Amino acid sequence: MSTPSRDLVPPPAAFAARARVGSLERYRQLYAESVTNPEGFWARQAERLHWSQKWTRVVDADFTTARIRWFEGGKLNACFNCVDRHVDAGHGNQIAILWEGDDPGHDERITYRELQRRVARFANVLKKHGVAKGDRVCIYLPMIPELAISVLACARIGAIHSVVFGGFSAHSLRDRIQDAGAKLLITADEGVRGGKAVPLKRIADEAVAECPSITRVLVKQRTGKWVPTVDGRDAWIDEELAHPAIGDDCPCEPMDAEDPLFILYTSGSTGKPKGVLHTTGGYLVGASFTHELVFDHQPGDVYWCTADVGWVTGHSYIVYGPLANRATTLMFEGVPTFPDVGRFWDVVDKHQVSVFYTAPTALRALMQHGDAPVLQRSRKSLRLLGSVGEPINPEVWRWYHRVVGDSRCPIVDTWWQTETGAILIAPLPGATPQKPGSATLPLPGVRPLLVDDEGREVKGDGELSGNLCIAAAWPSIMRSVWGDPQRFFDTYFKRFPGRYFTGDGARRDADGYWWITGRVDDVLNVSGHRIGTAEVESAIVTHPACAEAAVVGFPHEIKGEGICAFVIVKAGIATDAALEQAVKDAVRREIGAIAAPDRVHFVPGLPKTRSGKIMRRILRQLARGVTDDLGDTTTLADPAIVTQVVAAVTGRTAHPPTA
Ligand code: WT7
Repeated sequence: MSTPSRDLVPPPAAFAARARVGSLERYRQLYAESVTNPEGFWARQAERLHWSQKWTRVVDADFTTARIRWFEGGKLNACFNCVDRHVDAGHGNQIAILWEGDDPGHDERITYRELQRRVARFANVLKKHGVAKGDRVCIYLPMIPELAISVLACARIGAIHSVVFGGFSAHSLRDRIQDAGAKLLITADEGVRGGKAVPLKRIADEAVAECPSITRVLVKQRTGKWVPTVDGRDAWIDEELAHPAIGDDCPCEPMDAEDPLFILYTSGSTGKPKGVLHTTGGYLVGASFTHELVFDHQPGDVYWCTADVGWVTGHSYIVYGPLANRATTLMFEGVPTFPDVGRFWDVVDKHQVSVFYTAPTALRALMQHGDAPVLQRSRKSLRLLGSVGEPINPEVWRWYHRVVGDSRCPIVDTWWQTETGAILIAPLPGATPQKPGSATLPLPGVRPLLVDDEGREVKGDGELSGNLCIAAAWPSIMRSVWGDPQRFFDTYFKRFPGRYFTGDGARRDADGYWWITGRVDDVLNVSGHRIGTAEVESAIVTHPACAEAAVVGFPHEIKGEGICAFVIVKAGIATDAALEQAVKDAVRREIGAIAAPDRVHFVPGLPKTRSGKIMRRILRQLARGVTDDLGDTTTLADPAIVTQVVAAVTGRTAHPPTA
C-alpha cells in the first residue's frame, strides 16, 4: 500500500522560513549526526540545562540487562531549571502559567517570579511536614495551579512525586499510594469539571484509611465546600502557606542525574499498574529537547497542551518541557464541551494561543458538532497544532488541518509513551512533509525498528510491518518499575533481547514513514487512556455475582476503542439490566469511570484453548458484531461453546453493534 502523493502535506513556506529546523535536509543532517555520534549529540543537548556539576559519562546503557544511566556524575535540580534560572536571567515578569478555570470567567496569570515564590513556599510547607529527599509524595489534585506548583515543589527538595489522575477511584488511589509507600498526600476538597463537582477529599479519605504510610494529608480548598478533616493528619494548604514561619526562600536540592524525579503509574497487559520511574537528568533533557523541536518553541509563544497533569503528557508537555524552555504554558481545568462545544477555540482566542496540542478523541467529539462552533472563533493566533495519545484517523487529521488550522498550521502527530518520557516519533513542523495518520519520522537520537513475532528484524526498502521496538537508549527512557526491577526487564526487554519493546504494532512505508497501528498486547486505548484488560476483568469479578470475565476492545467512534466485557455469572443469578449496571459500577468503583465497560454480555462460557487461555481473537470479532466467520476454532477445548456465546451475544443485542 503506497501512500498517494496528494496526501503529502509539505510544511507551509511561511512556517518553515522561521522554524528552528526549516528543511528536511537539516532534519536528516541532525538525525545522521545523532545516530553516528549519540554521545556527542546528547551531550550537546544536555547543555541546554543548568548543571551544578557536569556529568563524567554521557551514557551507560545496555538493553540486554535493562541497565540505563545517563549523564552520570552530573548534578542538577529540575525545579531550578524550570523556574529559578529564568528568574535569574531576568525573565521574572514573563507569564509562566496561564490558568484557565472550568468557569470561563475564572483565570489566573502566574509569572516566573511569582511561580518561584509559590513553589518555594510550598516546598517549605512540605519540609515542615517532614518530607525529605527521596520521600514519595502522592498528588491527587484537579487541574489547578497547585498541581504544577506541588510537582515543582517536590522536585525542588528532591521528593519523588507520584501524581494520580483525579478521575481514578479510591481503590486505584490506595493501590498507588501503597505501592509507592507515599508519606504525604496532597489533595483538594473538590475538583470542578464541566460545572460538576468531583469529591476528591472524600475519595482520598477512603483511600488513605488503608494507607498506613501516609502521615499527612494537605488539602487545597478549591470550592470551599465543607469536608470532614482528620485531626493530626489533615492540614489546609492555604493556612499552611500563610503561616508566618513559612518563608519565600527554599534552596534547590542538588540531585544526581540518576536520582528519581517521579513515579507515574500506567497499565500493562497483566497485573496491577506499574510505577514507571523517571530520573532527573535524562528525563529533563528529553522533555526540554523534544518540546523545543517538535513544537518549534519560539519566544512569545502561548503554548497549550489540553492533557491533564495526571498523565505523562501533562508531566512532560504542560510542566517540565515547556517550563524548562521558558515557555508560557496554559493549564485548563475544564472540558472541551463546557459551557459549550466552542470552549477550546474561545480559550485559544482569549489567551492568543499559538501552539495547541490535544488528543484525537477530543477532536472526534468536537467534529461531530460540525464546523460552525470552530469557524465562529477567530483562531488567528494559532500557528501549530499537535496530536497525541492514539493514531489520528486521516479524516480527523484533515478536519483539524482545514477547519481548526485554516489550512495554514502544520500538525505534529506525536507518538510516545509513559515509558519513553518524551516524544520519539513525530514530524518537525518546519521540515517534515506530513501524511495524515502517520507519526512520520523518528526524532534525532531515536532508532525505531520492526521485528516479527520470532524476534527477527523486518528489513527492506518497501512497505514493512511488525512489532515496534527501539534499538538504543535515549535519555528520557524510564529507568525501572518502582519496587520491581524484574518486571521492568520482563515487560520491555525479555521478548526481543537487546531491544526495547513498545507494545505497539507499526508499519513503515516505502518513504520511511511510521504508522502506528495500535497495541499488540492486552492493553486498550480508550479516549487516549491506557487500560489493561486484566485490570478491568479483576474489577468485574469483585462483584459477588460474577464468576469470570473477559474484556476486549472494539472500534468506537469517539473513544477510539470501547470496552466490551463478556461475563459469566455464578449459578442461579439473574442476568438483567440491573446486574449489567452493577458490573459497570464495580469497574467505576475499582478503577474509575474511564474504565467502565461500554457493553456487557452475559455468557454461559468463554472460548478457551486446551491450556485454558481465553481466545480473545474470537471475542474481539464478536465485540465488533462479527458472528459468522470467526476463524479457526478447532484448537478450543470446547468448540461448541462458541455457538452458545454467539447466541447469548446476539440475543442480548437489541441493535447490531456498529463496527
Ligand atoms: C500508547 C502510550 C504518550 C502520551 C499519551 C499516551 C498510543 C500514543 C500515539 C500516536 C498512535 C499513539 C500507543 C502507545 N499512542 N501516541 N501519536 N499515534 N498511537 O501515553 O498512556 O503511556 O500510552 O498510546 O499505543 O503505546 P500512554
